[in-house]
Amino acid sequence: MELASARLHKGQISWWGLLLTALLLTTWSPPTTAKMTIEAVPFDVAEGKYVLLRVVNLEPGIRAFHWFKDNAERENELARYILAEKSNRSGMAYSGRESLYSTGSMYIHNVNKDDERTYIIQIVLEDYAMKRMNTTFHVHIALQKPSITANNYSPIEGGDSVLICEPYTLHTNYRWIRNGKSLSEGDRLKLSEGNRTLTLLSITRNDTGPYECENRNIVTTNRSDPFSLNIAYGPDTPSIFPSDIYLLQGSNLSLSCRAASNPPAQYFWLFNETSKASSQELFILSVTTINSGIYTCFVNNSGTGLSRTIIKTITVLEAVTQPKVYAINTTVIEEESVTLTCYSNDTGILQIHWLFNNHTLQLTKRMTLSNKNSILTIDPTKREDSGEYLCEISNPVSSKRSNPVRVVIKSLRAFQSNGNAAIMIGFGLVAGVALIAALAYFLYSRKRKTGGGSDQRDLTEHKPSAFNHNLGPSDNSPNKVDDVSYTVLNFRDQQPKQPASACPPPRAKESLYSQVKKK
Ligand SMILES: *[C@@H]1O[C@H](CO)[C@@H](O)[C@H](O)[C@H]1NC(C)=O
Ligand SMILES: *[C@@H]1O[C@H](CO)[C@@H](O)[C@H](O)[C@H]1NC(C)=O
Ligand SMILES: *[C@@H]1O[C@H](CO)[C@@H](O)[C@H](O)[C@H]1NC(C)=O
Repeated sequence: MELASARLHKGQISWWGLLLTALLLTTWSPPTTAKMTIEAVPFDVAEGKYVLLRVVNLEPGIRAFHWFKDNAERENELARYILAEKSNRSGMAYSGRESLYSTGSMYIHNVNKDDERTYIIQIVLEDYAMKRMNTTFHVHIALQKPSITANNYSPIEGGDSVLICEPYTLHTNYRWIRNGKSLSEGDRLKLSEGNRTLTLLSITRNDTGPYECENRNIVTTNRSDPFSLNIAYGPDTPSIFPSDIYLLQGSNLSLSCRAASNPPAQYFWLFNETSKASSQELFILSVTTINSGIYTCFVNNSGTGLSRTIIKTITVLEAVTQPKVYAINTTVIEEESVTLTCYSNDTGILQIHWLFNNHTLQLTKRMTLSNKNSILTIDPTKREDSGEYLCEISNPVSSKRSNPVRVVIKSLRAFQSNGNAAIMIGFGLVAGVALIAALAYFLYSRKRKTGGGSDQRDLTEHKPSAFNHNLGPSDNSPNKVDDVSYTVLNFRDQQPKQPASACPPPRAKESLYSQVKKK
């Protein structure tokens, strides 16, 4: 009570004092001196530190000061100061830690909790009149650096964790800091026991910290050393690297399994449910098709007691063999059609694509792919379709290209200007002109003697081989360019093997080729 009023009094001086002074200045003549008081500086003292009991507005005409504690009894005198002698003397209660000054103030150093008492100054005036004033101060223990204890130093993800800031002291505030940020109660955070206990609810691997706790009273603030939780978690769903599921026969199988886990997980590999390895990596030298199957990675965390598995199906494939391109006609007149067939011995997951003059064939409206891309039909042809065609066949682990086939598209106009009336008939451009018809008939009958085409259509289809013969490029380059004759030969060779790639040969035209060959 006394302490409270002393503080209040001190506060009033500044506030009400000013107001009062202002009032006195305006309505009354001002007093010559302000009221003499005493105060403790600081009011809140840390144990072991000092305090100054200060006399404010010391009056003149003073003979001596006496300082007492508790009351002004002789046995409670701490010290006295005689102004005339400018000397001080210790009293019966002197502890050796008090010093007096000529200003009346007393200094106490190395303050302890027992010093928290009432201090009385007794002032002896010139006329031996006496004045007494008293004051006091608070002594607070200086807090020690705190430390953090936990109910579980290696908690498991999902559980709760309790951290306590030690030691417990009265009149102390506690504060928690995680990753440098002050914590307050939240979703998964509870504070209790005046913030001394921090409870982390359903912790995650991200709650590791570091944590610090701070204790604070009016005179000290201390922070603990950082503290981190070693949170056990996982294994999470494992992954297998690399992600390829197809392997080329003869290559090495090298699989690695990974799963987030603390402490680090143990790994095991199984192949078709037979144990293969107890390591994170699985290596098989030079695989064959017998290595195709289901690979299982089994992951176990001894810290959490949890385990997980993941499976991967691996298929070992042989490399594809070289495909071949067959064509009925590789030299045709503009507007006629060309059909190219890509043939392969291989089975399984195959992809076929076509190249034209060494670039991916850009399909135009006149081109169609059929039978899983194995048949390319250009209908009608144009002169710009002339060039080298080849097909590429691939499975997920390999690809091979056929030899190129040269396709020649002859200009219709050039053909007409040859004066070949048969062509004119063939295209229905000339009708009813007797002379030309006769010539046509003449030519037609000549052809029949050698070739034996049965109708008008045969005749026109027949023509290109004649050109082929004349131009002759394919005949002379067997390595680079497959020519028609070669193609036909191969075609007939392959026939009995019954290709599995579902590229049925164009049987309808078979007889015609034989005729061409014979010629
Ligand atoms: C506990 O901490 C909160 C801030 O997180 C604060 O508002 C509250 O006053 C503190 N309580 C005590 C008893 O110190
Ligand atoms: C941990 O933090 C990371 C990154 O912020 C986040 O992606 C992940 O989901 C968090 N994990 C958990 C279990 O909260
Ligand atoms: C397979 O592994 C062996 C041994 O590590 C190595 O010598 C060989 O070059 C590898 N083969 C392939 C195709 O990578």
